[in-house]
Amino acid sequence: KVSDILLNDGYKIPAVGLGTYQIRGGEGYHQILAAISDGYRSIDSATNYDNEGIVGKAIRDSGIPRSQFFISSKLPGKYHRYDDALSAIKESLARMGLEYFDLFLIHWPLPKRGLYVEAWKALITAQKLGLIKSIGVSNFEPEHLDKIITETGVTPAVNQIEIHPYWINDNRIQENLKRGILTEAWSPLGRGSDALKEPIIQKLAEKYDKNVGQIILRWHLDRGVIPLPKSTNLEHQRANLNIFDFSLTNDEIQAINALNRENGRIDGQDPNEYEEFE
Ligand code: A2P
Repeated sequence: KVSDILLNDGYKIPAVGLGTYQIRGGEGYHQILAAISDGYRSIDSATNYDNEGIVGKAIRDSGIPRSQFFISSKLPGKYHRYDDALSAIKESLARMGLEYFDLFLIHWPLPKRGLYVEAWKALITAQKLGLIKSIGVSNFEPEHLDKIITETGVTPAVNQIEIHPYWINDNRIQENLKRGILTEAWSPLGRGSDALKEPIIQKLAEKYDKNVGQIILRWHLDRGVIPLPKSTNLEHQRANLNIFDFSLTNDEIQAINALNRENGRIDGQDPNEYEEFE
């Protein structure tokens, strides 16, 4: 059973969610439906993933009540202007066929465009309108967090950032924590990188009788981070939820932290430089 974590706004979020980047189309629909039947209730989508329709359809077709799900999506950069953002949120809901999101994030700060405060104000309005329960951000650096908090007085519930053994992002987790913001990890397994083959991960997998993916996901939980893994392999998908019956020691967490690399980002995406391609 997946445990829940309390957010700074009083809502609860499941401690593991399904990542859906690059899960699309008919095949994607079946993968999401399988994940739901395996026990996933938290699903992390984004308008830019082009899969809001199949996520919504899988939720409805599962026959499980909406209230048992925790559904997230994200605002694309091209809709950072206040009015555009509000319409984009409504359109996301329409594509999903939902009446509200449990969580909605600004996908990237795009600081060169300088509109993320406007976008944040639109999320605050959407929350007041009941379209979103919890509001948050993704790929925000500490200075971006401070700017939206100072200008609106509203702290994000979540900041979803890149974290995996080659990019442990310790400082950013601490910066989020200082502000009362929960950290979610995108590509928590390093998008299937060699991290899964590292000897320390394999050794721990043997010790705990878990697979290598489960060890890395447990490392996230033990650092207070919510991982959003994805898998097309049903066995992996199921295993990735089964990480609540063991935990790593401090030394083991540190040993995985030591895999960090200076240029460990998957796509070399610096949140200050990143521009969405559309
Ligand atoms: P597969 O689909 O064969 O399971 P991320 O979530 O960081 O983007 O990583 C996704 C990648 O990690 C996919 O290539 C997936 O491959 C792989 N993966 C997911 N779960 C596991 C697991 N439990 N053990 C090994 N590899 C996994």
